[in-house]
Amino acid sequence: MKKNIIAANWKLNGSIKTISYFLTSLKSKISSFSKKSAIVIAPPTVFLERVYKEINNTNVYLGAQNIDMNLTGAFTGENSALMMKDVGVKYIILGHSERRLFHNENNEIISKKFCLIKNLNLIPILCIGETEIEKKSNKTENILKKQLNFILNSFGKKAFRNTVIAYEPIWAIGTGISADPKSVQLIHKFIKNHIKKYDTISAENLIVLYGGSVNALNAEDFLKQPDINGLLIGSASLKCEEFLKIIKISDNVL
Ligand code: 13P
Repeated sequence: MKKNIIAANWKLNGSIKTISYFLTSLKSKISSFSKKSAIVIAPPTVFLERVYKEINNTNVYLGAQNIDMNLTGAFTGENSALMMKDVGVKYIILGHSERRLFHNENNEIISKKFCLIKNLNLIPILCIGETEIEKKSNKTENILKKQLNFILNSFGKKAFRNTVIAYEPIWAIGTGISADPKSVQLIHKFIKNHIKKYDTISAENLIVLYGGSVNALNAEDFLKQPDINGLLIGSASLKCEEFLKIIKISDNVL
């Protein structure tokens, strides 16, 4: 049965006031939804516990936006996967292009974090995607393959069991220019086929999300595609009304 994940990546946004307004609105409406779509909210780390208290025991799950490469120790300012688990996190976003770009995270660092997450039985949301230049020079598949292979080489053939991948073309993030849903469908198929070469079970159950300028107007076109299993949403997930509209669209296409 097809099941979607609709995930909100709030990035560096929100305050106690806006988050409590968002959660009150979400909770008042969420019971009328079919629960066919799992919802993930990834707030800034400082708000994780606050969000968890509100969503605990619903079909809304807690996501983290980042973790350190270490589990404990003298690493000032960092948070570990172990701590995330402790406060109720279930999903951890990693490999996001903003972390690759602004925090110099390469495939090696990302695969180390991936292993930490898997070893704690948490669910990684691994972001992969190409730049505009790579797309224009027809390198998309090679770039994605390289990003996936780093994980397969470090964690093994079964790395993508119980794992979520988010295809986020970098040129579509925060630009208002979303990718074409039919092209995204082909890329998601490519991702699944690539993983299938290593492990059929992983590929059959793999959830591949699309992210990049998704909003309530274009969500349906993406979610109608057979291999798009949900969305990772940035700015449109900050407005509760719009986020709820997208969840409804997801429920309706299933
Ligand atoms: P936008 O939806 O704001 O383009 O951001 C997408 C994203 O980066 C989600 O991780």
